[in-house]
Amino acid sequence: MTEGSATLEQRSGKAERKPLLRALARETCATPPVWLMRQAGRYLPEYRALRARAGGFLELCLTPELAAEATLQPVRRFGLDAAILFSDILMIPMALGQKLQFSESEGPLLEPLGDSGQTARYGLERLHGPLAPVYEAIERVKSALEPDCALIGFAGAPWTVASYMIEGRTSRDFAAVKLFAFTRPDDFAHLIALLVEASAAYLIRQVAAGAEVLQIFDSWAGALGESEFDAWCIEPIRRIVAQVKAVHPQIPIIAFPRGAGLGYRRFVARTGVDGISLDPAVPLAWAARELQGQAVLQGNLDPVKLVSGGDAMREAAERILASWGGGPFIFNLGHGVLQTTPPEHVARLVALVRGERASRPEKSHA
Ligand code: CP3
Repeated sequence: MTEGSATLEQRSGKAERKPLLRALARETCATPPVWLMRQAGRYLPEYRALRARAGGFLELCLTPELAAEATLQPVRRFGLDAAILFSDILMIPMALGQKLQFSESEGPLLEPLGDSGQTARYGLERLHGPLAPVYEAIERVKSALEPDCALIGFAGAPWTVASYMIEGRTSRDFAAVKLFAFTRPDDFAHLIALLVEASAAYLIRQVAAGAEVLQIFDSWAGALGESEFDAWCIEPIRRIVAQVKAVHPQIPIIAFPRGAGLGYRRFVARTGVDGISLDPAVPLAWAARELQGQAVLQGNLDPVKLVSGGDAMREAAERILASWGGGPFIFNLGHGVLQTTPPEHVARLVALVRGERASRPEKSHA
């Protein structure tokens, strides 16, 4: 009897506030919520089947029913605390009119931007038309989601998206985009400003469609020197956060300025984000001391430890839980799930994170 009513109370509490939203409201959870960047993808056999059915990656992203299914696959399999919209950061350049394709061997390929003037032909007027299938996918996921699972929408940050737009592909040294920025500062500033407006508008629509949390991916932030990091990573993201929060003041926003190093501190102090996703190189004690008072920490298991599994994975996950679990914290990887990851390792990792929950007082669902 007593047990039954406690469970009921707990369940209704959970329905009001999903674990991910509680953590983002700076609650220290007995068990941290857990989800993984790139949790959907080719390491899952059901994803490979779905992608084959879609015909290609872009087709999968742009068919709402299939994108919703790809979003839900890892959540169904592993019972994660969040679903992240299945899409890609390159949907924005595509919606702005830049030709985009995904090659099996080379990854994303974009039509080269070429000379300065060409950025001018991209405008915001037609932004939402090509993105309509994304908004519909969000609505579909939202209506199918378990009550304690939160839906995360996302966008790429202007610097990372601009690097793809100018380099035309994943770059090793960012020479082309940096050269463009250094030699044509006005054109580059124009492109960044356009991406700020487009990303803010895109994220605002994602919230209207049902996203409950937003994440901004600046995967190549670590390629920037100090003043460029401030100008092209911090400042554009600060403006996006301000624009989104002006329309949706309650929406929690997580950012991932990967590889920011000591710059994570300035980033957190200036952007106004609620959560900060940390890469595997960030020292645990440093982040607890310097960042956790200002932002909810998210991370930072090395994705290769998820591939390896075993003691390497367990020990690293336990160190992260011990270092960050005493404050507001979301368990995640330090970068996306790799294609070679055995799905069983993901299940084991989630159990491990939740096992902490079983060993702590306030817990009851074993
Ligand atoms: O996290 C999720 O599960 C949601 C889906 C998601 C994808 N891409 C799916 C995807 C998210 C959040 C992204 C973001 C993204 N896309 C980033 C930022 C995060 C990061 O990893 O740094 C970047 C840089 C991109 C650009 C991109 N898209 C690249 C470089 C590639 C090729 C790499 C690869 O794994 O093939 C993609 C393609 C892509 N995006 C795939 C998936 C599942 C693989 C496509 C396929 O099925 O062939």
